[in-house]
Amino acid sequence: MLRRGDRPLGLAPASVRDYRELARRRLPRQLFDYIDGGAYEEQTLRANSDDLAAIGLRQRILRDVGDIQLATTVLGQELSMPVALAPVGLGGMFAQRAEVQAARAAAAKGVVFCESTVSICGIEEVAAASPEPFWYQLYVMRDRGYAEDLMARADAAGCRVLVLTVDLAVVGARYRDTRNGMSGGLNTWASLRKSLDLVGHPAWVRDVALGGRPHTFGNLEKAVPGGSTPESFKEWVDAQFDPTVTWDDLAWVRAHWPHRLVLKGILDPDDARAAADHGVEGIVVSNHGGRQLDDTPSTISALPAIVEAVGDRLDVLLDGGIRSGLDVVKALALGARACLIGRPWAWAVAARGQAGVEHILDVLRADGGPLQLEAARPGRAPKRPEQRHHLRLLARRDHRLLRRRVLRLRAQPLLPRHARRLEAGEDRRTTEREPSARSALGRRSPVPGPLLGRHTSSRSRLLLPLLPRRARSGAPRPAARLDPRPLA
Ligand SMILES: Cc1cc2nc3c(=O)[nH]c(=O)nc-3n(C[C@H](O)[C@H](O)[C@H](O)COP(=O)(O)O)c2cc1C
Repeated sequence: MLRRGDRPLGLAPASVRDYRELARRRLPRQLFDYIDGGAYEEQTLRANSDDLAAIGLRQRILRDVGDIQLATTVLGQELSMPVALAPVGLGGMFAQRAEVQAARAAAAKGVVFCESTVSICGIEEVAAASPEPFWYQLYVMRDRGYAEDLMARADAAGCRVLVLTVDLAVVGARYRDTRNGMSGGLNTWASLRKSLDLVGHPAWVRDVALGGRPHTFGNLEKAVPGGSTPESFKEWVDAQFDPTVTWDDLAWVRAHWPHRLVLKGILDPDDARAAADHGVEGIVVSNHGGRQLDDTPSTISALPAIVEAVGDRLDVLLDGGIRSGLDVVKALALGARACLIGRPWAWAVAARGQAGVEHILDVLRADGGPLQLEAARPGRAPKRPEQRHHLRLLARRDHRLLRRRVLRLRAQPLLPRHARRLEAGEDRRTTEREPSARSALGRRSPVPGPLLGRHTSSRSRLLLPLLPRRARSGAPRPAARLDPRPLA
């Protein structure tokens, strides 16, 4: 389904990536980039996929795989396979009443849908349309009264799992959204270009702009009376993310939520232990799909230590970069109980609505393949790392890739010393190879290090004159002019 040369006939989408391409064609650029993009230079976004791809599977043969059971129980809910649809804000701008379509698709395929606080369809609309219970995702808002009301609404709608997102105390800067004018503050010419981007996609205009109204945030209508577009809700939402939230606030959530509680956005074993100590029933190892802090570890590389720390105390789920059944297999084999998918369902619903979401769930189920499924049977992932014989990293190169990310993290306390050495010009090698060290100095280069360093390839050298002078010199980029804070 991709570029002409990539496909024989391109008659039908086969994979999640095909749906990404279909969504790219159908959606206005600003919406496609809102889904597709990540924070800052998108290093974490890329790492999520790259690190999954770097893990190889051990192939075993002639083992009876005639009785593969994918069904599992996650947070007390029976699922036909260990997959859930992650909370994705603004869904109803990608397809007509997209949250309803996604919830129906999840129910049809026996998995669970998680409704975002900043959805277009409200909790009640999804509950009325969905034949199965779904999960509800909440941010800790400054307006605690409103959050309490949301929890009561979710409870009344039959939700039995609350997913509390804890990695959004401060919203990550998403450069693509700023460049596309998603943050507002546009002059007339820019507003016109933004509108042309919308009307240049007639299928989307017909389906969503005209057919998918109202475009309010269904869960937040009471907070913004009279708001009729996502923009009119943005100011309220932006003001509601609370940077003062601490572990103590969990007691308040517990007081208002009588069912299972999950913390989403855990990347560190110490935080995972704290979550278990606070008695939550589950955690999602997540970096918000690379949309929050950049230069954090990929979720798959963070997973083993977290499973080691708390895998026997609560359900450990993972999201970030899951694009195929094989990715699910790898996460399960490293100890996850289930995986959530974010962008995959957003692309699929944008491209083909409910049928698209059902199709990608079928694809995830099928493309694991019986051998891999045997390796990763739910509940069969061994707890101790030395017993994880199901999985092995195939090449030394792969080992190094994962280790480098872990080492980079461990190096964090050393950064001030690094910084001093770098400022004194003593450690040129580190400057070239260690982008995280450079960003700690506030001097991240707008082009990858090797392009500027002594490893510059002859091809890159040819390209250098084409880059803006600032990029060639490695000078810091100017501060963004527009408010870079997106909605979710
Ligand atoms: C367009 C978009 C909107 C999102 N909105 C929310 C949200 O409202 N609440 C939340 O907890 N996470 C949100 N996320 C993060 C997802 O729940 C999930 O962590 C992430 O998408 C997983 O990575 P993946 O997209 O690579 O599967 C959003 C992600 C995307 C792509």
